[in-house]
Amino acid sequence: MGIDDGRLDGKVVWVTGAGRGLGRALALAMSRAGARVAAMSRTAGDLEDLAAKAPGEVLWGAVDVREAGAVAAFAGRIIDAWGRLDAVVSNAGIGRYGDFLDQSYAELGLVVDVNLKGPMFVAHAALPHLLAGGGGHLVHIASDLARRPLAKMAPYAATKHGLLGFSASLLQEFKGRGLKVTTVNPGIIDTGFGDSQPDSRDESWALRPAALADVVLHVLTQPGSVVIDEITVHPLGQDF
Ligand SMILES: NC(=O)c1ccc[n+]([C@@H]2O[C@H](COP(=O)([O-])OP(=O)(O)OC[C@H]3O[C@@H](n4cnc5c(N)ncnc54)[C@H](OP(=O)(O)O)[C@@H]3O)[C@@H](O)[C@H]2O)c1
Repeated sequence: MGIDDGRLDGKVVWVTGAGRGLGRALALAMSRAGARVAAMSRTAGDLEDLAAKAPGEVLWGAVDVREAGAVAAFAGRIIDAWGRLDAVVSNAGIGRYGDFLDQSYAELGLVVDVNLKGPMFVAHAALPHLLAGGGGHLVHIASDLARRPLAKMAPYAATKHGLLGFSASLLQEFKGRGLKVTTVNPGIIDTGFGDSQPDSRDESWALRPAALADVVLHVLTQPGSVVIDEITVHPLGQDF
């Protein structure tokens, strides 16, 4: 967004999956950095609690990323409220660790709908507003599994690989109009999402959500001429 002092004062940032885990840490970090935060997930109570704890203004909506019309309507609410949109952090995602052949067609479809089609719907709704402001920034939270194989996470890995291609292609298409697009590939974060990963019982070595949020803030506050197109972040203790 062209700011290089780690601050987002006056900016509007839309965070999906903001109710829990990494998304909540992202929303709080953006708010502490001065941004007005548009927070989305499906559970109203989580978002109410976030709005009460964030130091700055929060506009929240209990919206499912699979519902394209509701996602577009939420983008409209952001513009109605604040008249601008500067950045989007597409973070909502689901994962399941398990044998591929044990997963039903419905489960396979669900992970694609939330992790891949969801960010597409969000980007589609956000882009006109980002471009109207001179470019803006789209950040996609993928996974280190976008760049390495792991057995029993194939559908999830497929969606995260997909996000890399989606981000890179959007960057090529819109960078001439000032848009930045970044894919963030975290290793294991101690959010409870780890129930779907191996070694889920002890995550004391895992990344703290707040540490990852600081990385995203760093990505968002680069000078205007700089885009970090992909960044991978691991806890030193991750050995798989
Ligand atoms: N935790 C890890 O180890 C790890 C590692 C690498 C990458 N990631 C990625 O980081 C992101 C965040 O993960 P996390 O660990 O913070 O997960 P989390 O704790 O399970 O939180 C996920 C958030 O997304 C929301 N969400 C889920 N399905 C949704 C839907 N259909 N529509 C709207 N919101 C939805 C959830 O709220 P509701 O259920 O109320 O909607 C929740 O607020 C994901 O994209 C994940 O793939 C996580």
